[in-house]
Amino acid sequence: MSFTEQFADIIKFDEPLAPLTWLKVGGPAQMLVEPQSEEQLIDVLKTADAEEIPVRVLGSGANVLVRQEGVSGIVLRLNADAFQRVEVNGTTIRAGGGAQLSHVITEAVGAGLTGLEELVGIPSTIGGAIKGNAGGKHTDFGEYVTSVDVLTVQGQKFTRTGDELSFEYRGSSVNELLVLSAEIELKEGDPEEIADRVKTTWITKRTGQPLSFQSAGCIFKNPRGMRAGELIDQAGLKGTKLGEAEVSERHANFIVTHEGATAKDVLNLIDVIKSRVFEVHDVELELEIKIW
Ligand code: EPU
Repeated sequence: MSFTEQFADIIKFDEPLAPLTWLKVGGPAQMLVEPQSEEQLIDVLKTADAEEIPVRVLGSGANVLVRQEGVSGIVLRLNADAFQRVEVNGTTIRAGGGAQLSHVITEAVGAGLTGLEELVGIPSTIGGAIKGNAGGKHTDFGEYVTSVDVLTVQGQKFTRTGDELSFEYRGSSVNELLVLSAEIELKEGDPEEIADRVKTTWITKRTGQPLSFQSAGCIFKNPRGMRAGELIDQAGLKGTKLGEAEVSERHANFIVTHEGATAKDVLNLIDVIKSRVFEVHDVELELEIKIW
């Protein structure tokens, strides 16, 4: 049986990806596949590997720009219950790779556990937050992750922990295809102070970032010792608009998309920002978002 026959009930063909991303632009996935269990997911990967079908994993869609032509092969979504569980046990949280980071933060706050407060407002699945080491100015998620169960593109499962698990600014040693689940170790804290810190962070972000617009969060990584937002701002690019994509007036490292925007508009604007910042500051900005 071919891949498409075997998994007919969990495949959507030519499925638009724009609604599943925050930028709301770009083309379809040749096959959007939503496995319902770990066993089925492993089967999907083994079969896809045997048939040499390329596989990508879509998390919250907050850090990805899909090109207009879309993507060939399989786009996996771990949105079934089996991948979204969050369990608190003392100071340890075990979360599925498809669980929302916001869900984990809510559970932590509810259990009086401290550590993740500064991460509030980051739209990400646990898998995405681990691979890209989601973070704010003072904290990143990796500081609290002690063990990660991964699946390789061939469908092999193993655990990364200790020396095999490391994190850096917006990156990690987890380079396998996907995160199945992770263990997060927090500390007990004062529930009221924890809730206050969450509130303050949320208000600060709402003031400084265009959170009510369509955007992909920060587009570029902060170059070492510098702030991409500041460099873009100083280059006079705030408000620059190409087609329906615009450099946010609120935070220059955000691109917001308006009704009718295309992936090409965003890509063109990224090029303009990169070359202008290079001209003005002699700095090569590196993308934080992934382009599919
Ligand atoms: N700034 C400007 N103009 C702007 C924006 C910022 O001059 O338009 C300057 C300000 O002086 C500000 C400094 O840049 O003091 C830093 O800005 P901000 O406090 O907003 O922090 P950031 O470094 O731009 C980082 C993360 C954000 C995260 C915030 C808050 C990166 C690339 N960005 O932003 O993460 O939300 O800290 O914790 O690491 C993301 O990664 O998608 C993201 C939004």
